[in-house]
Amino acid sequence: MAAASVGSVTEPAFLAAVSTSYDTVADTYVERFPPSRLGPLGRAMLRAFAEIVLAESKGPVADVGCGPGGLTAELAGHGLEVSGIDLSPRMIELARAAHPELPFSVGSMTALDLPDGGLGGLLAHYSTHHLPPERLPAVFAEFCRTLAPGGHLLLGTHLGQDEHLRPTSGYGGHPVSYDWYQLPGERIAALIEGAGLTITARLDEPNPNGAGRSFAYFLARRPG
Ligand SMILES: C[S@@+](CC[C@H](N)C(=O)[O-])C[C@H]1O[C@@H](n2cnc3c(N)ncnc32)[C@H](O)[C@@H]1O
Repeated sequence: MAAASVGSVTEPAFLAAVSTSYDTVADTYVERFPPSRLGPLGRAMLRAFAEIVLAESKGPVADVGCGPGGLTAELAGHGLEVSGIDLSPRMIELARAAHPELPFSVGSMTALDLPDGGLGGLLAHYSTHHLPPERLPAVFAEFCRTLAPGGHLLLGTHLGQDEHLRPTSGYGGHPVSYDWYQLPGERIAALIEGAGLTITARLDEPNPNGAGRSFAYFLARRPG
């Protein structure tokens, strides 16, 4: 497979396509997708995740694929010590500008620059859908590796019937070159559990923005 350099790591070309595409759409994304876009159910899941992680205080939280950092800031507002990581340098620039009090860094969820077992929680909201499905076991294993025993994952993603989309424009007509995968919820749940995490709650909601695709939240815990 073709490789490209992302940060200091050599990664497959699909990551470069995601990074470049989100650099292109980042400024529009901030305007169109504020945290307030979350419906009441999504907000409730985010708050429940924060409460559980805070109560168990096993370590800080990483918001992986944080984009412009709106949800990172929401978690901080719930009292969590949180940092954001994203593949797109422009997204990270915008996150730093909007939330200078929070730490943000460029990085990939395929190889997190985080120690084993250090996180009390990991949020991946609307950020895993560009990974080819065959990459998901390794990424979910990476989430499990970085969580402390007893730490919690909150994964939010669109659902579908094994659809592989190749949009050429996004977020207001900007050119994009990423692929987009939508999997059935049962498959995502099985992949999360296959990585060694235990699903503790799942919430399916119709798309709060009114489009046809539904969205699901998976709350999972690293045993121990
Ligand atoms: C649709 S945005 C969601 C941003 C934010 N989580 C939210 O819900 O508003 C998807 C983000 O995931 C990031 N992303 C995609 N693949 C990634 C990867 N392998 N590692 C880190 N970030 C990634 C993109 O750069 C983009 O900023």
